[in-house]
Amino acid sequence: MKPETFIIPVAGGKGGVGKTFFAANIAIAMAAMGHTVLAIDLDLGGSNLHSFFGLPNKYPGIGDFLKARSAELEDLMVATKIPNLQFIPGDGRTPFLANIPYAQKIRLISRIKRLPAEYIFLDLGSGTSFNTLDFFRISNHGFVITTFDYPSTISMMIFLKHLILRVIERSFAGDNQIRQLLKHFNKQSMTDGPTDIRTLQSRIASIDPEAEKTVKELCNMYRPRVVFNLGENPRDIKVADQISRGLESNVSVEVDYFGFIFDDLAVRQAVKKQIAFLPHFQESLAGNCIMRIAERMVKYWNRPINNSSKHLLRRILEVTEN
Ligand SMILES: Nc1ncnc2c1ncn2[C@@H]1O[C@H](COP(=O)(O)OP(=O)(O)OP(=O)(O)O)[C@@H](O)[C@H]1O
Ligand SMILES: [Mg+2]
Repeated sequence: MKPETFIIPVAGGKGGVGKTFFAANIAIAMAAMGHTVLAIDLDLGGSNLHSFFGLPNKYPGIGDFLKARSAELEDLMVATKIPNLQFIPGDGRTPFLANIPYAQKIRLISRIKRLPAEYIFLDLGSGTSFNTLDFFRISNHGFVITTFDYPSTISMMIFLKHLILRVIERSFAGDNQIRQLLKHFNKQSMTDGPTDIRTLQSRIASIDPEAEKTVKELCNMYRPRVVFNLGENPRDIKVADQISRGLESNVSVEVDYFGFIFDDLAVRQAVKKQIAFLPHFQESLAGNCIMRIAERMVKYWNRPINNSSKHLLRRILEVTEN
C-alpha cells in the first residue's frame, strides 16, 4: 500500500513575501530529515522554483503536461542535488498562459495525489486566481506566507476570504440559488454593506438552513498554517492576535501560527551564488528557523495547536538566545 502522502500548498496573497524561498527550503529541510519529498512549481506564469534549488531552467514541467494531454506527471520528476528530494518544474520552459480549464485542473490534481512521495510541496503564485485557490484547497492545512507589513497581512486575509468563497462555490456548484447569491456577494462593494463570510452565511441560512450548516463545516475544515517571513523582531508576532480577530470576524476561519523566519543576509548570499540556501546556510538564523518549522511539521501537522502564536514566540526567542 502507498504510504500516506501529505500535500502541502504554499501561498500567501502578496507577491515577493518569500513563498518560493520557503517552499524550496522546507522541502530541503524535510528531505534532510529522511523523508521522501517532492516539490512542484505551480506558479504558472511566474515559475522560478528551480533557481532556489540551484537548478537550470531546462527541464520540461507542468506547462508540458498541460499542453501534451497524454504526458505522465511522474516522468517529469527531476532529481535535485539533495538526497530524497525531487522536483517538477512549472511552465518556465513551455509557458502555458491560459487559465487552466477546470476539468484539466482536476486531472492534474488527481495525478499529483498519486505521485510517490511522503511530502509534496506546491509553490503557488501570488494573488487570488482560481488556479492558486484551487491548488491551495487540495489540503486543509496549506502554508500561508506573510511578512509583518500591513499590506502583506491584509493580502493574506483577502486570500483566505477568497479561498473560503471558492470552497463554498465549488461545494454548491449544482445549487443555482446559492450560486446566484455568491455571484451577487462577490460583486458587492464594501459600501453596499458587509461582505464578510458571516453575512454570507446568514443569507445562505435564509435560503436553506441545511446549506448554512454545510458552510460552517467547510469553514471549520480549513486551518491554514501561517509563516511570518522577513522578520526583524520576534516580538512582532503579537500582530497575530489582531490577524486572528480579523479572520474570525471577516473570514470565519482559524489559522495556526506555525513559523517565523528572520530577514537574513545569508539568503541573499545564496541567491547571488545561485546555490540552494539549505543545507549550505543551515547554521544561519533563517536556516535555523526553517529547520524548526520542519520539526514542528513532523510533530503537529495533523492537529491544531492551541495558543500557537505564544508557542511560536517562545520558540523563536530560544533561537535568538542560543
Ligand atoms: N528570510 C529571508 N531573508 C532574506 N531574503 C529573503 C528571505 N525570504 C525571501 N527572501 C528573498 O526575497 C525575494 C523574494 O522571495 P520569493 O521569490 O521567495 O518570493 P515569492 O513570494 O515567491 O514571490 P512571487 O510572488 O514573485 O512568487 C527573493 O530574492 C528571496 O531570496
Ligand atoms: Mg514565488
